[in-house]
Parts: sequence; structure tokens; C-alpha cells
Amino acid sequence: MIPINQWIKIKAPATVANMVCGFDILGFAVNSPYDEMEMRLVPRSAGSTAVEAITIINMDTYGLPTEPEKNVAGAALIALIEEYEMSHPNSSIAFEVKINKLIKPGSGVGSSAASSAGAVVGANYLLGKIFSNDDLVRFAMNGEKVASGVKHADNIAPCIFGGVTLVRSIFPLEIIALPSPTLYVTIVHPQIEVRTSDARSILKQNVKLKDAIKQWGNIAGLVAGLMKSDYDLIGRSLEDVIIEPVRSILIPGFDALKLACKNAGALGGGISGSGPSIFMLSKEKETALAVEQEMKNLYEGLGLAHHTYVTTINQQGVQIEA
Ligand code: HSE
Repeated sequence: MIPINQWIKIKAPATVANMVCGFDILGFAVNSPYDEMEMRLVPRSAGSTAVEAITIINMDTYGLPTEPEKNVAGAALIALIEEYEMSHPNSSIAFEVKINKLIKPGSGVGSSAASSAGAVVGANYLLGKIFSNDDLVRFAMNGEKVASGVKHADNIAPCIFGGVTLVRSIFPLEIIALPSPTLYVTIVHPQIEVRTSDARSILKQNVKLKDAIKQWGNIAGLVAGLMKSDYDLIGRSLEDVIIEPVRSILIPGFDALKLACKNAGALGGGISGSGPSIFMLSKEKETALAVEQEMKNLYEGLGLAHHTYVTTINQQGVQIEA
């Protein structure tokens, strides 16, 4: 256990959920952007509740709620404290968390997951690493519920485990860390807001069998491609016939951008999480940079403000500096 009042620093990476065909089950962490957090254990007032034991301090200007039950990091920490207290009935812990969000909320690259995952990994470090990564994912999913109304782990799992992850099941939780060959990731974030809850509410509730078969083939192909380092198979499998056709209407220039990036040599890509960010995977860094230029050209042409990132897959997940 880290002594009371000693601050630790936390780096929580952005994540790309869905990985095109794997809605709610596949995702990967990236090296840039990431959130910065600081956290410490503090003395807990006698008789206070788990909610009262959490203090959130925003270091950025996004004005996110600081009430623990409305804050994604707070909601994740409440779940962790409640479980800790079941096995340590005489102990009472309290946390102070400073959050500097460098991942813009609502950008589609796992901003809420970074806060909740960063908070629980930080808390676990302070407590002497008593919880498993699976436990931490369970706690952090409470943050995703606050953010989007549903528990899903396709951002949380790669944020905590690093690399590419497959969430085979949420109840009971089963996460599989997948290997991946070297991949360069280009991300464009057009400066519009797409709320995850809205992007989920427009989805169709029924899927045609022929579409499901295509999607299963792509998910299996993508996993096999990652395991075999088969770049062409990865590229062919980055196809979504169920979610993307519905959601892409929310993102200006989506089809033209995807075509231009593929013509520039990208293996493939699509909507990052629920959007509006779009990501592309490339085998070489030069291709990833050419893809970035295509993204900039397209959004400059549309007169739409945007940010781009050229990065790689983050294999470590949340990092702590004591
Ligand atoms: N799998 C989720 C979705 C990720 O696409 O709605 C966004 O949080």
C-alpha cells in the first residue's frame, strides 16, 4: 500500500473501440492521445459513505461533473471502494483524484473509458495491487454506464490491458488479450459532437442472417489476421455491414474519406467507437502519414475543423508513475 497523501501520476491512453466489425467486443489502445491524472489516498472521515470518500478535481476546462456518482471516474471508484470494504470491513479508504483530460470528451476515442480505467488502475496501485485486471474492468464499466447508459468494455479492456482485446463476454466477464503485428494508426477527429447514447439509439435492433454471417466472417478473419500477422487478411476483415451503414450518416464526408485513405494505401478502418473520430490502420509509417494528409485535405475541403493523430498501438495500457 502506498502511504497516505502520497500522489501518484497516471497516464490513461485513448482507445479505438469496435475495430470496425467487432461492435462492443473488440478494441485497442493507442499511444496518443492520453489523459493525465494524479491520485492519492487520504484519511476518511468517520461514518462517511463510499460516495463521500471520493474527491474529483478537474484540471481542464471541460466542466465535467465532480459529483462522484455523475463522474465516470467517480462511478468506477465507488464500485471499487464498495467491493474493497466487503473484504476489509474495518478499513475505510478515501481517494482524491485530479483529472486533466487531454482526450476530448465525446470524440469517440474512449475519453470516458480513460478516466474510469485510469482511476481504478491508480486506486489499485495505491492499495497494493489487490485486484486483478478483470476486477478493474468490472469496476470501470460503471463509468461507461454513466457515460452512455450501458455497460460495455470494448474501450475499458484495452485501456487497462493495453494492446488489442476481445471481450468474449461481459456477464461473466471474459477478456482475451490478442497479439498484433506492428500497425500504424491514423485518427481524424472532426470537431463535431456525436453522443454515444444517440449513436446507439439509432441502431437497428434486428440483423439479417446474411449480414450476421458476413460480420462473423470478418470478426473471425480479423482475429486470425492479428494472430498470424497477416496484414492483407486484417485489411479485408475491416468491414462492418451492420453498424457502420447506419452510423456513418452522422459523420460528414465519411465514405469519401474512407475511399481516399484506402487509395493512399491504408489497410482499412472505419468509425472509432461511436464516432465522430475515424481511424485507419497502415502497415508502414509513411502510409499512415499519407493517410493523415488525405484526412486533412478532405476536412479542409469541407471547411470542417479537425485534429489528427498518427500513432501506434499502446501495449502497456494505463501507466503509473509513483
Ligand atoms: N462499442 C461502443 C459503441 C463504443 O460503439 O457504442 C463507444 O463507447
